[in-house]
Order: sequence, then structure tokens, then C-alpha cells
Amino acid sequence: MDFRHHICAPDMLGSTPCDALLLVIAGDQGDTALAAPLAAALKDATAHGDFAFKAGRLLYLHRPQGVKAQRIVFAAAGGKAATMAAKEFRNAVAKGLGLLKESGAKHLAVGMAGDVELGAAHAEALVAAVHDATYVYRGTKPSAPAASALSKVSLLCRKADAKAVAEGLNRGQAIAQGVLLARECANRPGNHCTPTYLAEQAQKLGKDHGCKVEVLDRKAVEKLGMGSFLAVAQGSHEPLRFIVAHYEGAATNVAPVVLVGKGITFDTGGISIKPAAEMDEMKFDMGGAASVLGTLRAVLELKPKLNLVCIIPSCENMPGGAAIKPGDVVTSMSGQTIEILNTDAEGRLILCDALTYAERFKPAVVVDIATLTGACVVALGHHHSGLFTADDALADQLLAASRAALDPCWRMPLDEEYDEALKSNFADMGNVGPRAGGAITAAMFLRRFTKNYAWAHLDIAGTAWKSGAAKGSTGRPVPLLTHFVLARAG
Ligand code: BES
Ligand code: MN
Ligand code: ZN
Repeated sequence: MDFRHHICAPDMLGSTPCDALLLVIAGDQGDTALAAPLAAALKDATAHGDFAFKAGRLLYLHRPQGVKAQRIVFAAAGGKAATMAAKEFRNAVAKGLGLLKESGAKHLAVGMAGDVELGAAHAEALVAAVHDATYVYRGTKPSAPAASALSKVSLLCRKADAKAVAEGLNRGQAIAQGVLLARECANRPGNHCTPTYLAEQAQKLGKDHGCKVEVLDRKAVEKLGMGSFLAVAQGSHEPLRFIVAHYEGAATNVAPVVLVGKGITFDTGGISIKPAAEMDEMKFDMGGAASVLGTLRAVLELKPKLNLVCIIPSCENMPGGAAIKPGDVVTSMSGQTIEILNTDAEGRLILCDALTYAERFKPAVVVDIATLTGACVVALGHHHSGLFTADDALADQLLAASRAALDPCWRMPLDEEYDEALKSNFADMGNVGPRAGGAITAAMFLRRFTKNYAWAHLDIAGTAWKSGAAKGSTGRPVPLLTHFVLARAG
């Protein structure tokens, strides 16, 4: 997809050469500063109830007078006319794209119907919305039809906004590449997207962009003493992989940002097996790993001045003769022992060793990303990822990044009191607490392995994929993480 910006005065929108023109209308008045024929058509449609200045409303005009395009769609965004929030802009664009899907338009021009400021965030949101509307998974379904014929998108903006808009389009395209990689990996079924496949994806990124990628196998992981990660992997015939990728954008002595992604390529629950209904969705249990690879992809494109280390522990969680059993006690790389009370709480068991491994990089900050708990889905639903950290400044950075990226997260508590739940009579800790506050106790478990650096945890169980008719990976939180990393680079 080709994205460009074009400077265009509000009264000249109709003369833009394109196949389809999508004009977003901010505010609740008809004062859109449009050329006369368009203003008249809009007024007439509004008078007859075919249109209203209310978020979500659309008006489709075929071969409209005074417009070069074959078709024009007006999309009302609501809000205040003077300012247009990027989120409202994105929602209106997404609505309009839905209507244009089957039009066959190849070149789409998008603009504001009126003298409204557009910034980098709007441009970024446009790129995200277009990719979202046109993405089709083909990995194991080559027959899937294209979502639309679209191949070129122009964002029409005022001269004063051109610089910011161009920057936003550029950043948006890098993020979209990352989101695409994450979705492609996560949508791929468990028999295709194995730990070995994830490692190959990382190695391909390394080869294409010249960054260093190490892949450790079982032997190397044994040598490191990752008893907890090994315990989860031992139930599967599929070989484990421990993936470490290095992006070097600053001097070697600059402390890196470290991202750790949960890479369970299929989670049956193990001996504490999950119910059959919707178990197929546990192929998405490597969504954290996918988002780390996607963020690396975006970073390799944008080349910020910082060092980044990406760590992905990856294996399957299977039942079987060699699998861990409830009550088994294992020794983590940190030396702390863990009583595995529930083999389905496997994410924290692979992450804890990866978090200990992260210490060797003397990180400026470590963020782990994991489809960790069903409890987080109960707490926050599917809009906000769960954010856990004891570090207020770091929480603010991640919240700011999530707002800027339109990829929201919400801070959850992490008070000492919750640690009690992890007490065990047979090991330093159990791997689960009671049902209540399950997302928090999972984070408390990880916290025990992160005492030597600044750390935050993102529980993306509710946001990494969608269920139902639109079942599939969302590619989240690649936008959040990319913004966070870019902001860390200053
Ligand atoms: N991968 C799951 C978490 C999950 C569940 C993500 C549902 C998305 C939807 C994780 O490994 C898991 O099974 N967690 C258990 C923990 C429990 C045993 C304490 C859960 O949430 O049920
Ligand atoms: Mn599980
Ligand atoms: Zn899991």
C-alpha cells in the first residue's frame, strides 16, 4: 500500500484526482467550508434524513457534481469542529472504508471536510485503519479473496500540517509493517507456527535488516539452568527455542530497553487441561512474542537511537507422559523454587527464566508482554491491555505511549499484599493463587524475578486477538510498544 500526503485547500477537495474521495466531517454543524455543489448535496441529504452530523453516520454519493472522483463518501466523526481527535478520525475513516470496500476503487483520497488541523497522530491512525480494513490472512488459506482493490491512499491536508502528516504517515507505515508481521505469525496455526518457526521469523528479520539474532536450543537452555522454562517444554515433542534479538541504534555502553514476549505456540493447559470449547484460540498464546517481533520490525524501519534487546522463550504446553504434574517442584534460573500447582499457569513459568536472563544486559528497563491470564480479560475486557508496574514514572511512559498509539492499556494494582497468595509449603512459591485477582497474582509472581531492574508487565490476554466471526490476531500491542521505544530514544 502506497501512502502519500497532498496539500489541498478545503474548497479544492473536489478537484483531487482519485477513484474515491472520503471526507471526514468534524463537529455537529454543517459549516464545512466545502465547494458549493458538495455543500448543497450535503445540506439536502441532511434535510431528508439521509445524513446527520453524528459520529458513525455516512453519506455515499455516486458521480457527484463538482468532484473528480467517481464517488464520494462523507463520514461524520462527531466531536468539536475546531479540533479532531485522532481516535474519532480513525473511527470515521474505518466506517467510510467499510462502505467503499466493494467499490473497486484503487486510489483513495482522504481529507477533512473543512479547515481542520491534522497531525501526525491522524496520519498514523489513517494508515492503521486502511491496513485494518484491507488485511486478509492467507498463510494457510491461499484462496482467501482480497478485501479490496485499494493500492494507493492520499491524505489531503493543509500546508501548515504537511510536515507532521508526512511524519505520521512514515511512522504509521513502519508500525503497520510490525502489526502485519505480528498478525501473520499469531494467525498461523500451532502446527505451522512452532517455536522453530518463530525463531526462523526472528532470523529472517536479522538477515533482512542486519541485526544480531541468537537462537538457543534445549541444550543451551539446560546449561543456563532454566528449570522452569524447561519444565513447561518437557511435555511436548516440539523442540523449544529461546530467541534473543539485538537492535543496536546507540553506543554499546548505552543500557538497552528489553522486551520479553511469551511465546507459547499452543497452550492446551497441560495436565491441568483446558476445556475443548475455543481451545483452538490458544494458538494465539504466542501473541506477546509476535508483538515483540512486530515491534522489532517497526524499530528496524525507523532506526531510533537506542539499544533494544528482544527475548522470546517459546515452547508448547502439552499433556503427556513426560509432562509436568500438579505438585511438581522445579528450580528456576534465579535459584528460587516453584511448586507447579496448575500446569495451565505456564506463561509465568517460561517468562520468569527469561526475566532472569534479561539481567545480563543491565537493562534500562524491561517490559514483558504476555497473553497471561483469563482473569485480565474478566477485569478489563477487550479494549485495554493490563499494565502492571510498581514504577510510577514507567507507568506514565507506557500509558502515554498507549494513548499516542491509540492502543490503550490500563494500570492495575501491584501492592505487596497480593504476594501472600503465592505462598507454598513445598517451594519458595506456588505458580498460582486463588481465583480472585488472578491477573494481579500472576504479575506478582513475575515481580519476584525482576528485583534488579525497572520493570513493567503487559497482560494482553484480552487484546491480542478477537473471537467470533472476526476471529484473528489484532497485532496489538505493537503500536503501544513502538511508541514506547521511540519515546525512550528521545
Ligand atoms: N494463555 C492462558 C491465558 C488466557 C486465557 C489467555 C484465556 C486468553 C484467554 C494462560 O496460560 C492460562 O491458562 N492462564 C490460566 C491461569 C490460571 C490457571 C491461574 C487462566 O487464566 O485460566
Ligand atoms: Mn495456560
Ligand atoms: Zn498460556
